[in-house]
Formats: sequence, C-alpha cells, structure tokens
Amino acid sequence: MYTGLLHTHRLVVTIFLLIYVIKLGMMLFYPTGLERLRESKVARIAEMVVSVLFLATGIGLWTQTATPMANLLLVKVALVFASIPLAVIGFKKGNKVLASLSVVLILASYGLGEMNKAQKGKVMIEASVQSGKEIYASAGCVACHGDDGALGLSGAKSLQASTLTTAEIENIIRNGKNAMPAYKTLTDAQVKALVEHVESLRK
Ligand code: HEC
Repeated sequence: MYTGLLHTHRLVVTIFLLIYVIKLGMMLFYPTGLERLRESKVARIAEMVVSVLFLATGIGLWTQTATPMANLLLVKVALVFASIPLAVIGFKKGNKVLASLSVVLILASYGLGEMNKAQKGKVMIEASVQSGKEIYASAGCVACHGDDGALGLSGAKSLQASTLTTAEIENIIRNGKNAMPAYKTLTDAQVKALVEHVESLRK
C-alpha cells in the first residue's frame, strides 16, 4: 500500500513539476500559447486532477510515515504550500517573478525529498558498538520496523514474518529497497550483528 502510494506520488509530483516548468516556459517565451492553454477546459481539468492527486497521495504517505513530523518533511510541505499562492497569482496576473519563484520552491521541495532518502542511510555508528540490538536502535531501524520488528511503518515489512536468507537480509540492509534506505556506512561486523538480531526477531 505504502509502496504503491509512494510510486504514484513520485509520478504525480513529476507530472506536476513538468506542468509548472512548461507553463513558466510558455509564460516567458510564448505568452499567447499560455493564454490559449488557460482557456482550454481540458487543460484546466487535467491540472486540477494532478494537483488533487499530488496532495492526496502526499497526505496518504504522511499518515503512514514513521516520523510523521520529521523536520525535513515539514519544510518540504511548507515549501509546497508557499508555492501554491505564488503560482496562482503569478500565472494569473502574468507576473514572471512570482511564477518563477513558485517553480523554484517546488523544485527545492523535490530536491529535499531526494536528499532526504540518500541522507537517511548515512548513519555513523562507532565501531565499538557491536551489539546487534544497539545498532538496530541507533541506526534507526526501530523507526519503521519497531522494537519487535512488527511495526510496519513507511511500508516496512514485518521482520517477524520474514523468510529472507541471511545473504538477502544483508543485501537489503546494504542496498535498501523502496522506502528502506541503503545503509552503506555500517562496518561488516555491524551488518553481521544486525543480521543476527533481525533473525532473532522471527516468530
Ligand atoms: C524508512 C523506513 C525503514 C527503515 C529506517 C528501515 N527499514 Fe527495513 N524495510 C523498510 C521497508 C519499506 C521494507 C520493505 C521493502 C520492500 O520489500 O519493498 C523493509 C524491509 C526490510 C527487510 C526485509 C524483510 C522481508 O522479509 O522482506 C529487512 C531484513 C529490513 N528491512 C531490515 C532493516 C534494518 C536492519 C534496518 C536498520 C539498519 C532497517 N530495516 C531500517 C523500511 C525501513
């Protein structure tokens, strides 16, 4: 469910961004085209559908995210909401500065989302921490999987019901999958201890 929402959200956000970039491009270089586009009912309805889907999938994801009010997510949402009135006024009044600003804000929000994912797995844990349980807690696995492995936030699969082999678990920790970040900064010993802890959670 989460993964499906995530992919839909990404697709819709990309379309949303494209629409704004195209509209801005038209405003700057082909204003009569934008004028005609504005008069087209189909274009208006399509844009409305994309906007509604954008917000609906975003809210849907938000309700299922491990840290619902994480700072970065809040900034992302604030940027999107700040861009909406700017876009409405900018495109309606033909104000190039406001319209450009709205596109920049949406682009920034998009960039933050991408950065967040790459950043998430970059946890540095002191080499002296060797216990799988401690690494599991300090690397942030708990946020999505929970203490007992059954929490299932952000689309996380239950570790209690997992049937993966040791090598497959190691692989998913190192490389991530869908909403799960890749943990590339853990030492081999830490990954090994983590795998053992993950396997010990099975019921
Ligand atoms: C942002 C949330 C999130 C965090 C943090 C996270 N995971 Fe995951 N995890 C997921 C998601 C989502 C999946 C399911 C991926 C898929 O198959 O689509 C998953 C799947 C797994 C699986 C495979 C389960 C199975 O049977 O398919 C293992 C093992 C796992 N995670 C271990 C960990 C460990 C260990 C950590 C910490 C180093 C961790 N995860 C951190 C979200 C997370």
